[in-house]
Amino acid sequence: MDALKVTGGNRLSGGVRVSGSKNASLPILAATLLAEGRSRIYGVPRLQDVRTMIKILTALGAEIDWSGDCLTVDTSGISNCTAPYELVKQMRASVCLLGPLLARFGRAAISLPGGCVIGDRPIDMHLKGLEKLSVRFTLSGGYVRGRAARLSGSSIFLGGTYGSSVLATANVMMAACRAEGDTVIEFAACEPEIVNLADFLNRMGARIEGAGSHLVKIQGVRRLRPTEFRILPDRIEAGTYLIAGALTRGQVTVENCVPEHLFALMEKLQEAGVTVRHGLTTVEVQCRKRVRSVDIATLPYPGFPTDLQAQFMSLMVLADGTSLINENVFPERFMHAAELKRLGADIILKDGTAIVRGRKRLTGTGVMASDLRASAALVLAGLAAEGETVVSRIYHLDRGYENMETKLGALGAEVVRFSE
Ligand code: EPU
Repeated sequence: MDALKVTGGNRLSGGVRVSGSKNASLPILAATLLAEGRSRIYGVPRLQDVRTMIKILTALGAEIDWSGDCLTVDTSGISNCTAPYELVKQMRASVCLLGPLLARFGRAAISLPGGCVIGDRPIDMHLKGLEKLSVRFTLSGGYVRGRAARLSGSSIFLGGTYGSSVLATANVMMAACRAEGDTVIEFAACEPEIVNLADFLNRMGARIEGAGSHLVKIQGVRRLRPTEFRILPDRIEAGTYLIAGALTRGQVTVENCVPEHLFALMEKLQEAGVTVRHGLTTVEVQCRKRVRSVDIATLPYPGFPTDLQAQFMSLMVLADGTSLINENVFPERFMHAAELKRLGADIILKDGTAIVRGRKRLTGTGVMASDLRASAALVLAGLAAEGETVVSRIYHLDRGYENMETKLGALGAEVVRFSE
């Protein structure tokens, strides 16, 4: 298993180019199933989760070619509508194959993804939404099986206990594109990845209005056609490097990003005393002194993203004062706290809130990555810790960050991958 050795103490400086968004790529790759033929997707990041999605598409009968910046998916030969457990358990996002398979073939079977380290993660909202479109689900042998002779449009309220659901919105939107009649999704997720998916679907011939707001209207069409599309930049990767810049008291410019997608983070960094500037496709942070503690509460977009909570906690661990970190999207997503404490952080967890009392220094040691964003948080903390931090189990990191050690290295960090 690979690990990263991070030698702390270097101020990061320079520019880093952000890759295409993981969380936009996964549903868009699933959406290629909606049309028969060859779609070309540009800017898909070379990540483990994308490889898992490719394996599933291939198992379903798709043909894939990935040359340079262009991933081609040919869905003409789909012969199977079952996504197997071995692959689904590696990546929960596989659930977003349900909508496209049901829309095109009238049937789909997906292994239940089960829980994961960031919490229980049920799929009730996906099922409820698709049932409204006339899908019948049964559960047997660990698989959820859906059938529908013809999907029919409907009005669907997609709010859950923790607000909207990104992939449930994606699933219903994809299915509704080929349903008979109109569909209205109320309390749809507003994430930029949903807008990117809607843009892709509209290029395939779908009729979707309102993506990016809580009210999405979809006029069903009989057929969609394959198309070409470019994935939007990854706002979470961008945010991770901005936090790394602030944490190491450096100066980092994130290139190829959409600043508007990062406003919640930029606001909090400024509140913490970091200088933040943005251009049309760049955001720069500059930080010369210890940051101030600030409170954050994660919320669906445009709120502070849960996918940056762990990384921001690493920043707060070294801040001046006490910070309250409220996790409202995945209340159990605090696995990184115990590992940060191994580096010397002072964190108390209480009812979905982390109370972080800033320390003057952290000292490097061995830590264990538990999930994707927790891994990133540990690497970031290692950059600011004294001495060496070894982050084990970084296969989690490889699920969502393209060449992280190379990108950090180019900014002046000392990060070396090795096999444990
Ligand atoms: N939820 C339910 N029932 C459902 C679906 C969700 O109760 O049927 C709950 C979840 O348990 C959670 C909340 O609703 O408490 C929001 O979850 P959501 O469905 O929005 O999450 P997701 O769509 O499964 C995507 C991202 C996650 C990101 C979340 C929130 C992808 C592939 N994944 O997951 O990304 O944290 O939205 O923004 O798009 C990551 O990249 O590290 C990651 C975990």
